[in-house]
Amino acid sequence: MNRKWGIGGVLMVFISWAAYGQLDPNAAPDFVRQKGKMNVLFIIADDLRPSLGCYGDPIVKSPNIDQLASKSIVFKNAFAQQALCGPSRTSFLTSRRPDITRLFDHSSYWRVQAGNYTTLPQYLKMHGYLTLSVGKVFHPGIVSNHTDDYPYSWSIPPFHPSTQKYKNAKVCKGPDGQKHANLVCPVDVEEMPEHTLPDIQSTEEAIRLLKKLKGTENPFLLAVGYHKPHIPLKYPQEFLKLYPRDKIPLAPDPKIPPKLPPVAYNPWTDLRKRDDVMALNLSFPYGPIPDDFQVLIRQSYFAAVSYMDTQVGQLLNALDEQELANNTIVIFTADHGWSLGEHGEWAKYSNFDVATRVPLMFYVPGKTAAFPHPGQRMFPFINSFTDEVRSLPPGLMRDVNVELVDLFPTLCEILKLPLPPVCPPSSFHVELCTEGNSVAYYLNPNASSRNRQLFVYSQYPRPADKPQMNSDLPLLKDIHIMGYSIRCDGYRYTEWVGYNASTFSANFSAIHAGELYLHKTDPGEDNNLYNNIAFAEVVQKLSALLKK
Ligand SMILES: *[C@@H]1O[C@H](CO)[C@@H](O)[C@H](O)[C@H]1NC(C)=O
Ligand SMILES: *[C@@H]1O[C@H](CO)[C@@H](O)[C@H](O)[C@H]1NC(C)=O
Ligand SMILES: *[C@@H]1O[C@H](CO)[C@@H](O)[C@H](O)[C@H]1NC(C)=O
Ligand SMILES: *[C@@H]1O[C@H](CO)[C@@H](O)[C@H](O)[C@H]1NC(C)=O
Ligand SMILES: *[C@@H]1O[C@H](CO)[C@@H](O)[C@H](O)[C@H]1NC(C)=O
Ligand SMILES: *[C@@H]1O[C@H](CO)[C@@H](O)[C@H](O)[C@H]1NC(C)=O
Ligand SMILES: *[C@@H]1O[C@H](CO)[C@@H](O)[C@H](O)[C@H]1NC(C)=O
Repeated sequence: MNRKWGIGGVLMVFISWAAYGQLDPNAAPDFVRQKGKMNVLFIIADDLRPSLGCYGDPIVKSPNIDQLASKSIVFKNAFAQQALCGPSRTSFLTSRRPDITRLFDHSSYWRVQAGNYTTLPQYLKMHGYLTLSVGKVFHPGIVSNHTDDYPYSWSIPPFHPSTQKYKNAKVCKGPDGQKHANLVCPVDVEEMPEHTLPDIQSTEEAIRLLKKLKGTENPFLLAVGYHKPHIPLKYPQEFLKLYPRDKIPLAPDPKIPPKLPPVAYNPWTDLRKRDDVMALNLSFPYGPIPDDFQVLIRQSYFAAVSYMDTQVGQLLNALDEQELANNTIVIFTADHGWSLGEHGEWAKYSNFDVATRVPLMFYVPGKTAAFPHPGQRMFPFINSFTDEVRSLPPGLMRDVNVELVDLFPTLCEILKLPLPPVCPPSSFHVELCTEGNSVAYYLNPNASSRNRQLFVYSQYPRPADKPQMNSDLPLLKDIHIMGYSIRCDGYRYTEWVGYNASTFSANFSAIHAGELYLHKTDPGEDNNLYNNIAFAEVVQKLSALLKK
């Protein structure tokens, strides 16, 4: 149906709405009223920390995302609620924290496991938007009931690129001339199965949908989830040219800090399963990875970011070509970050800034940038290889702390839809509510830092105090410890406490370890001050805030 979706498809959407009993008759007048509302293009990258030009990264080339940023409000300090794809996506798409979605792993569907929570796309759909999903938006599999929560969240069945099934195929050429399932995997796209890659297919599909959507009367939400820079770091090999190896430094703090509690450390088991990493015979759990291979991983992560940036560039260019840039809001974010060797760690699976901090920007025509006049190009494609990368204004940066659970109410406020109510303390029975706050106020170019949101929260589960094979991704039944982390101006504080997975309850009297980092002198979070007597009062205060 999504392949040849047209006016007939729109009709089918109406029919399927009625068929699924979701079209509240009282909502019908609303539906009509939504005509003329702005559209939304929601772009989600996978495992992307803010290693982007617009966030001040000196190495990464991301001219298309930088161009979007130059016309957006950019949140410098945005954080995911858990540094794992499924829990983070379910959390920001429902605006509930993992404790309330009861999803810390990849083995349940919130509507069954926790409550019948209304999602962000579902809410827009209920308000007359056509909602469409391309690529990885919800986490696939049981986490979204094998359907990406269709039909609740989407007007038509979600699209997945056919080549994602080759994710773990042996297609990466090694120095031995053989093909392997490597971590570091620059490829010749022509030699790939179906001669393409998943994110290229997702861009093509999203552009095809934009062309169809241009003529529709009702506004749309098009969510596009890119798979990169998630591992394997598989991308067109020409992107390597942007990153000469001798220009790639190691992380500034590649050693495991002496006061790092073992429970805080994630042993990056997913990397170890790749053929090229396995061949290094690394010791478990601490490694380390040899310096030259660390450089290769960093180089390929950056190249994968640039490749994803070209996809974003083509998508935004199509928005221009369809003359939609004057009435489409663009949101760009990621599900969580990724450690690139900081504190001797790799991948996600932790509470550190490198794993929880994400890019987040909002382009709102007429608000964050002047309306484009007819014929004006807002987002012309920028080719990283040939174009003189212009120096773009970085966009208006906000340093207020925000969380991905804020996305849902923020978008509602921008679209002038009724804000979901704030969740009561125990909200499992409440279908529509938010654990976030709208930060739409900060999209006003004149916004001051009043009403600043000071505290933001993330969490990560562990099976045991010492790193073991399932420390990165414990199944619910194996979770015995939860690390609750609070980030405020100046500090990150994390408390690892006992957790009973059969009752979903944390025991804050059973403290396994604590971490306190002072960002002013220790932005990399390497010097744990938890046991430093001079900070006892800070620990006490932040601990009290965490329990709230
Ligand atoms: C969950 O919510 C959906 C959408 O509002 C509704 O159609 C469905 O009946 C609900 N399911 C349950 C079990 O309440
Ligand atoms: C999940 O999918 C199954 C199989 O399609 C379906 O029977 C079930 O109703 C779905 N669950 C919910 C809560 O919609
Ligand atoms: C890893 O171990 C294998 C088997 O013992 C050995 O053949 C290989 O040379 C080792 N590789 C490295 C990089 O040490
Ligand atoms: C957007 O631009 C197109 C083409 O110039 C124009 O037809 C349309 O009316 C504009 N829409 C808005 C909301 O300004
Ligand atoms: C921002 O402030 C300037 C100067 O006070 C004012 O001219 C402008 O209208 C304000 N803009 C908005 C969007 O409030
Ligand atoms: C978890 O809670 C259940 C139910 O109260 C209890 O039977 C069990 O012993 C608890 N487990 C731990 C490890 O405390
Ligand atoms: C919480 O932890 C404390 C300290 O280990 C222990 O004494 C207490 O029994 C635990 N409470 C529950 C409900 O498990």
